[in-house]
Amino acid sequence: MKADVLLGLQWGDEGKGKVVDVLTPDYDMICRFQGGPNAGHTLEFNGIKHVLHTIPSGIFHKHCSNVIGNGVVIDPVILKREIDALVKMGVDIKKQLFVSKRAHLILPTHRLLDAASEAAKGKEKIGSTLKGIGPTYMDKTGRNGLRVGDITSRNFKEKYSSLVDKHKQLLAFYNFEYKLNELEPAWFEAIEALRQLTIIDSEYFVNEALKSGKKVLAEGAQGSLLDIDFGMYPFVTSSNTMTAGACTGLGVPPRAIGNVIGIFKAYCTRVGSGPFPTELDNEMGETLRKIGNEFGSTTGRARRCGWLDLPALKYAIMINGVTELTMMKADVMDNFDTIKVCTHYKINGKNTDVLPFDVIDANIEPVYVDMKGWKQNITSANNLPEELMNYIGFIEKETGVPISIVSVGPDRKQTIIMKKQHA
Ligand code: GDP
Ligand code: IMO
Ligand code: MG
Repeated sequence: MKADVLLGLQWGDEGKGKVVDVLTPDYDMICRFQGGPNAGHTLEFNGIKHVLHTIPSGIFHKHCSNVIGNGVVIDPVILKREIDALVKMGVDIKKQLFVSKRAHLILPTHRLLDAASEAAKGKEKIGSTLKGIGPTYMDKTGRNGLRVGDITSRNFKEKYSSLVDKHKQLLAFYNFEYKLNELEPAWFEAIEALRQLTIIDSEYFVNEALKSGKKVLAEGAQGSLLDIDFGMYPFVTSSNTMTAGACTGLGVPPRAIGNVIGIFKAYCTRVGSGPFPTELDNEMGETLRKIGNEFGSTTGRARRCGWLDLPALKYAIMINGVTELTMMKADVMDNFDTIKVCTHYKINGKNTDVLPFDVIDANIEPVYVDMKGWKQNITSANNLPEELMNYIGFIEKETGVPISIVSVGPDRKQTIIMKKQHA
């Protein structure tokens, strides 16, 4: 079998958690491959709303194995909190959750360094979630990091102390005040809890699953425009959020990748700093935020809102090799007379649909087309209004990729499978 990949095509928070939960009945294994607790993936069913940060979004389905892959960075304190909540809901964590030995650990000092670095940047700050993501990946690539597998080694405490000593020097450089002794007890307690989990060589686990015909879905975090290489650098996260990240973050060869399901909102949002060509810094943006309840699942920050950006969407589809699209939050547009879609950018008087290298400095003027709104609530796949079908058809024509799912509400059930419409 081949592993399918599901990932966000915008700036994150597209609704990945919801769709993974909806698709899990079709899969045996769901694997997170990058990012860490900067992610907040929301699921809603039976009147319950649940936000996952580190744990894959297949966890509520008993038949499904959930893997935290080597590419993920783990804060044991946050993971423990997530697990405690799931155990209360009756999830059998020991049986359903598998953690890679190669995943890197977020130390309390990584979080302090994140805060110190952002404070030092002042107005230029990235708008990080302050979960210690950047400093942890820096230690990974700098070959200083601690991994989950290290917690069973006899000199784990020494390894920890030697890394923390390095961090203390950096914090002194930043002139940053902190109280590490207030953070360490909870961290070490969470390390003990981590020891109780099913810790595995995930590259063998996933590849053997594929070999034996199991269906595997890799769940992305963040979004393509936050990718460390292809996002709007430096206003990005510190991992490869794209399809290629699923290969390095799980140990799955490129030839073993099957479908790539790209998730996008019917409009755009971004939380944190950085360029956002179609941003609506006006009443319309406020309306989108209000109807779409656009407040971060991890930090509670208000999300910036804007119209759908096709040049950016096409770019994300290109770098990921997207084979099918899922359009989220169509219901947010239910009452609009007109919906705008950005088809091109005007840069220095010329129309282009190419994302420039210097997005930050380029004076991008979005060029829009007006689409007629559908002005009704969508509750089922039957008799979808012509205006909605036109909106979908336009995006499919522009991108060359079919939209296979349309989401019309946060609940599992508020999902329209479009394959029937295409057949
Ligand atoms: P993720 O990080 O990609 O998993 O997305 P988040 O969970 O951070 O943000 C998506 C938000 O939109 C959550 O609050 C979801 O419950 C909600 N949501 C998902 N799909 C829909 C939808 O189709 N319509 C509406 N109105 N809300 C949705
Ligand atoms: P999910 O998986 C939206 C943003 C932050 C900041 C930048 C860098 O829920 O879609 P970091 O903490 O990684 O150093 O922050 O990236 N960011 C996200 N925005 N959704 C996310 O995850 C995000 N994870 C990070 O707001 O701008
Ligand atoms: Mg989110």
